[in-house]
Amino acid sequence: MNLYRLVRPVLHLVSPEAAHDLSLAALAWGLGPRFQAPEDPALAVTLWGKRFANPLGLAAGFDKNARVIGPMMDLGFGFVEVGTITPRPQPGNPKPRLFRLDEDHGIINRLGFNSAGAEACAARLETWRRGGRPGILGVNIGKNKQSLDAAADYGEGARRLGAYADYLVVNVSSPNTPGLRDLQAAAELDELLDAVAEALSGLDHPPPVVVKISPDLSDQALGDITALAAAGRMDGLMIANTTTDRPQGLRGRDRFEEGGLSGRPLFAPATRVLAACWRATVGKVVLIGVGGIGSAEDAYAKIRAGASLVALYSALVFEGPALIPRIVAGLGRLLRDDGFTTISEAVGADHR
Ligand SMILES: Cc1cc2nc3c(=O)[nH]c(=O)nc-3n(C[C@H](O)[C@H](O)[C@H](O)COP(=O)(O)O)c2cc1C
Repeated sequence: MNLYRLVRPVLHLVSPEAAHDLSLAALAWGLGPRFQAPEDPALAVTLWGKRFANPLGLAAGFDKNARVIGPMMDLGFGFVEVGTITPRPQPGNPKPRLFRLDEDHGIINRLGFNSAGAEACAARLETWRRGGRPGILGVNIGKNKQSLDAAADYGEGARRLGAYADYLVVNVSSPNTPGLRDLQAAAELDELLDAVAEALSGLDHPPPVVVKISPDLSDQALGDITALAAAGRMDGLMIANTTTDRPQGLRGRDRFEEGGLSGRPLFAPATRVLAACWRATVGKVVLIGVGGIGSAEDAYAKIRAGASLVALYSALVFEGPALIPRIVAGLGRLLRDDGFTTISEAVGADHR
């Protein structure tokens, strides 16, 4: 029986943020499901010298404060990303700040980096690492709203948290922190990346650094970023964060709330930007495709467009945790239908 079918009506009775808090509490209590899909070697991906059991991950924002890493790994994800974590704790924006667009399978959020801060999160990450459990862990860092020195904030995040990360994400694309997306400009990004590299330089095994970008960049700005990527200034690009655009045809009552839109309406625009990044960087950096994935077909389309890894968040809210093993199994089938024997053969196939 699909337990989520029973629980969902209750979760959809309370506010979206209360539903999220309840879900996190249940997961932390060990009430989440466990899916032990048989491992399919065709789905395993090795990147940056690390082995991902499958290419589907949990995107940032679900487990901002690293509370439920183990329970999320148990859902069958190939990797889990925590954050965004800011150096110092901060409350985020006033509520309400999270809206579900049921008719559109979309979500609008303007949470504004509510974060327990790097110190509290570092303690949880330390505990997770000491447990020695397998699973690839991404750590996503940002800046405090009040901070005047962005580079110093990203440097501090990298210094405090870098040692726990299998990969580190520099998030410069959330629309809910004033000025944050301006850090995507080449000069600013260059400075941030220097600060992060400096902070990681003391580590024996510094994590690869991934930059997470907005789907709303101009062609010029995107060109600047992919040029930096192609020049080896970062190890990966994550495409994309939420959009401030409101595509035609949205129906949800709250569609004009301020904030970033995610879920199904983001799929097409984010996949277009992903494909553009592939064309500009072919093979030089790892691309991670995020935005609107709700099925195996969606995940596979991102891979064919150029993603070596994919991740999701919003669809979990609409479909529940059983979606994860469904997508992973479906990916294996789609791969074989196209005559591929490994995921890496399918990466970028649309461009060949
Ligand atoms: C409620 C919510 C909170 C989010 N918080 C973050 C965040 O803290 N940091 C970040 O990089 N992305 C955040 N995101 C963006 C997601 O990681 C992802 O890039 C985006 O939602 C697109 O994927 P999806 O359509 O599968 O949700 C958030 C998304 C949602 C819905």
